[in-house]
Amino acid sequence: MTDQELAAESDIPGKPTSASRTTLSHIMTHSDTNLLGTVHGGVIMKLVDDAAGAVAGRHSGGPAVTASMDEMAFLEPVRVGDLVHVKAQVNWTGRTSMEIGVRVLAERWNESAPATQVGSAYLVFTAVDADGKPRRVPPVMPETERDERRCQEAQIRRTHRLARRRAIRELREKRAANGQEE
Ligand SMILES: CC(C)(COP(=O)(O)OP(=O)(O)OC[C@H]1O[C@@H](n2cnc3c(N)ncnc32)[C@H](O)[C@@H]1OP(=O)(O)O)[C@@H](O)C(=O)NCCC(=O)NCCS
Repeated sequence: MTDQELAAESDIPGKPTSASRTTLSHIMTHSDTNLLGTVHGGVIMKLVDDAAGAVAGRHSGGPAVTASMDEMAFLEPVRVGDLVHVKAQVNWTGRTSMEIGVRVLAERWNESAPATQVGSAYLVFTAVDADGKPRRVPPVMPETERDERRCQEAQIRRTHRLARRRAIRELREKRAANGQEE
């Protein structure tokens, strides 16, 4: 059964994208910098994970864990004093997992220009129960053309992630069967 058929069969009512979309804002300080004096990528990744986690929790109505983070792109350096906005939304839902798309924008403290996009990422969160076992999530209901495009693109990424995992697992099994693993 495809992901779309699964979603169509879901007995859990869907939730619109806007119900869980969120923005996390943070001013960068000296403790966030790397040796070059610009903001450390890991600081941005933590904010991305935090914002995506908030969206995943809100959409799924309970705890959700980060299963993967991919395509984290840093487009421009972030500097001390910048006001960083991390915007996150559910792009796609499967049975128990969700892809969260995140855009990172920075408002320069010394420029009255519109916020610049400085990064983006896609994360997969899996909703879990009290025992840490995956639990069903409501299907996301895209509301705009942009939401619809993001959902279709997320489906492509999902297909590639599954294919990559399967190919690597098969290679490892083959190497193990040939006695090539230490
Ligand atoms: C994520 C986790 C709950 C998945 O558990 P699992 O027993 O492997 O469950 P499944 O294989 O049934 O996968 C459940 C869902 O997660 C998705 N998933 C699991 N691992 C994934 C990965 N690496 N990338 C993308 N999706 C993943 C599956 O595709 C599935 O989605 P679906 O139900 O929508 O089809 C488990 O691996 C885990 O607890 N990981 C640690 C998470 C964590 O602690 N994160 C914080 C980092 S410190």
